Amino acid sequence: MTELRNDLFLRACKKLPVERTPVWIMRQAGRYLPEYMAVRNRSDFLTMCKTPELAAELTIQPIDIIGVDAAILFSDILVIPEAMGMKLEMIESKGPKLFDPIRNADDVNKFNPVDPYKNLKYVLDAVSMTKKELAGRVPLIGFSGSPWTLLTYMVEGGGSKNFSEIKKFIYNQPKAAHDMLNKLADSIADYLSAKIEAGVNAVQIFDTWGGILSPHNFLEFSLEYIIKIISKIKRNDEPVIIFAKGVHHNLNELANSGADVIGIDWTMNIGEVKNNIGNKVALQGNLDPTILYANKEKIKFETIKILESFGNGSGHVFNLGHGILPDVSPEYAKFLVNTVKEESKRFH
Ligand code: CP3
Repeated sequence: MTELRNDLFLRACKKLPVERTPVWIMRQAGRYLPEYMAVRNRSDFLTMCKTPELAAELTIQPIDIIGVDAAILFSDILVIPEAMGMKLEMIESKGPKLFDPIRNADDVNKFNPVDPYKNLKYVLDAVSMTKKELAGRVPLIGFSGSPWTLLTYMVEGGGSKNFSEIKKFIYNQPKAAHDMLNKLADSIADYLSAKIEAGVNAVQIFDTWGGILSPHNFLEFSLEYIIKIISKIKRNDEPVIIFAKGVHHNLNELANSGADVIGIDWTMNIGEVKNNIGNKVALQGNLDPTILYANKEKIKFETIKILESFGNGSGHVFNLGHGILPDVSPEYAKFLVNTVKEESKRFH
């Protein structure tokens, strides 16, 4: 195995000493990069996900261009519903569409857990190829959606405003919902284990829609399954990161889930969260992604505010509080990364 030349990200995930705070950006391989658009103009999104050469190229773009301390495999959370047999399309400026959404127990019964070595082999091939091309420059993160977030897409059939269909489903047909969440949890545990076997150095579980549930329903329909996944993942010492957007409640439960790192969005104060759960887990975040629309002086001010709020010591992975937006200037993303690299030294 190639030795990692920059392992700051992995050390911070384990709260081991670092010389400076590591930084990466959610959705760093994406439309804000002209180099990404050049590839996208030649092929459609799913072809990009399913072609290991392209996935590797896109994964590495932000390492070369923005200078982040970790790579995240170019792919999407919706490859699992697709591998389970749902037709998926990415519709320009509208987002993803899943056809024939789940609405009842009969629909749930049609699905079996996926075998990643069969239906998602292209992702594992992309991991091997990316690892080879990275040649130890930075660690590689693999990811999945949480069962709850994937179920939300599979029931809504895409994005949603009020989440009426998924709420009707879980409150009126809880048994069918739990059956499907279990199938998803089993699939995701196998998928993340296979990615680790293929070479990723850490995994992140995106619970993008965890925040639409009330606190006790979050425990029942989301966190329970995340805990199941973490207990089933076959890993050596690869850290697990949970990003549950909008989940201010249950921080202690998140910290006790078996995860090594909790990602937080920008509506929380990272210093307060550190006081709450920072002795148990590392924290990732949490700059408001829209700060990158501001001028460099403001970006620097807000970045330092977060570094100061976290304070001295390891256990902080700098990131945005959600994905980078498509109309942000790459120059400003790079400025953010350089600011973290420079300004964080004095906290270590
Ligand atoms: O972070 C990275 O750079 C790795 C790649 C990555 C993508 N999607 C590529 C992508 C990751 C980690 C994801 C995760 C993902 N996908 C999530 C969880 C993270 C989050 O943002 O909450 C979700 C909810 C999805 C589902 C999804 N995929 C949506 C809602 C959309 C369209 C919305 C949008 O931003 O336009 C996608 C498409 C998608 N996934 C794109 C990329 C680069 C844009 C595709 C394009 O038009 O080129």
